[in-house]
Amino acid sequence: MSTENKKQAAAEAALDYIQVGDVIGIGTGSTTNYFIDALAKIKGKIDGTVASSEASAKRLKHHGIHVLDLNSVPSLPIYIDGADEATQHRHLIKGGGGALTREKIVAGVSKKFVCIADDSKLVDILGTFPLPIEVIPMARSHVARQLVKHGGIPELREGFITDNGNLILDVHNMEILNPVEKERELNNIAGVVTVGIFALRPADVLILGKDSSLETIQ
Ligand code: 5RP
Repeated sequence: MSTENKKQAAAEAALDYIQVGDVIGIGTGSTTNYFIDALAKIKGKIDGTVASSEASAKRLKHHGIHVLDLNSVPSLPIYIDGADEATQHRHLIKGGGGALTREKIVAGVSKKFVCIADDSKLVDILGTFPLPIEVIPMARSHVARQLVKHGGIPELREGFITDNGNLILDVHNMEILNPVEKERELNNIAGVVTVGIFALRPADVLILGKDSSLETIQ
């Protein structure tokens, strides 16, 4: 099965977690796009969505799916999103698409986080995928220097501005042996908006598309 087919299979399996009347948190990326397209077929059953990016909001609206402001919603029963890396403990690296800040907010508001991915995303230790970190523009050099002290090699994502008007540093060479501790540590650098480690609020369910089946880790 191709990687795209695996992503699509994982995305369609996530429909099983949707209940009638839900307002659904929606992530960002190619796997989430498959989920949005699948959701369009059952859009009459849900009460709406909250999007984690302008790109996802646009795709949802294109399908005629209602997109709500997060501030108008007290809580979300469920959040569906992809990942760049995931472990058996459901700790993730996210932010390859640059939407990590809004993704972390929507995940934080949601009761259940269902992560969908193809099986190439499953790793023993996070950090082979360069860790995305959203930073306030004026703090870019300061944050980069601090990241070097943490053993990382930060690289500015050229020509990219987040939906929040900030920059992304992609940090290479960051072996993340203790994701919870590392997320806290890097979050504490002044000028960091969001670290792409999702360990303090991990996924609750990880659905992986495999060659001829799905693996669900929960
Ligand atoms: C966007 C993300 C995505 O979930 C992550 O990059 C995975 O993307 P894809 O589904 O295209 O592989 O975190 O900020």
